[in-house]
Amino acid sequence: MKVLAFGATNSANSINKQLAQYAASLVAGAQIEVLDLNDFEMPIYSPEREEQLGQPEQAQRFFKAIGEADAIVISFAEHNGSYTAAYKNLFDWTSRIDMKVFQNKPMLLLSTSPGPGGAGSVLASAVNSAPFFAADVKGSLSIPSFYDNFDVENQRLKNDELKQALSDIAGKLTA
Ligand SMILES: Cc1cc2nc3c(=O)[nH]c(=O)nc-3n(C[C@H](O)[C@H](O)[C@H](O)COP(=O)(O)O)c2cc1C
Repeated sequence: MKVLAFGATNSANSINKQLAQYAASLVAGAQIEVLDLNDFEMPIYSPEREEQLGQPEQAQRFFKAIGEADAIVISFAEHNGSYTAAYKNLFDWTSRIDMKVFQNKPMLLLSTSPGPGGAGSVLASAVNSAPFFAADVKGSLSIPSFYDNFDVENQRLKNDELKQALSDIAGKLTA
């Protein structure tokens, strides 16, 4: 099973990228592909730029990567209560290829931040809007206080309750 995982951020040391990759590793039999949004950078979307550029190669590549996956794990970084500009821009361009960005793929939607809110606001936005973009959301989870709950050295959750909750929803991707 091909699982595409990424942090919805362009931070090089993204905590959400770490969480997404770890969550994908909990999916039985997963062959994991991790995307870095820096490989999909484009000018900020505008109708005029769309007229000029059409469907940029980066957006086409992102759409194709989703299409080729059997399941998708996204962990959302929160900037000022919402999506990072990097993710939102890529998403906007991709939605102009096809509004069904997620192509009915089974998905886990996660989020984390160093603070106690665990990027819950952006996760709520992502979960609420998912049906409009053909996402088959199998589960969602916010991990608060990332550095208290995630063992960065060994790249795994150290909070047993959260680990169980994540394993439970990861199992739903193959059910
Ligand atoms: C501009 C900016 C705004 C932020 N706003 C929030 C926020 O609203 N909520 C939050 O929990 N963390 C916020 N943070 C902290 C991020 O959660 C933190 O930088 C985290 O590492 C981002 O995830 P990433 O490492 O996966 O990119 C903000 C950080 C920046 C730089």
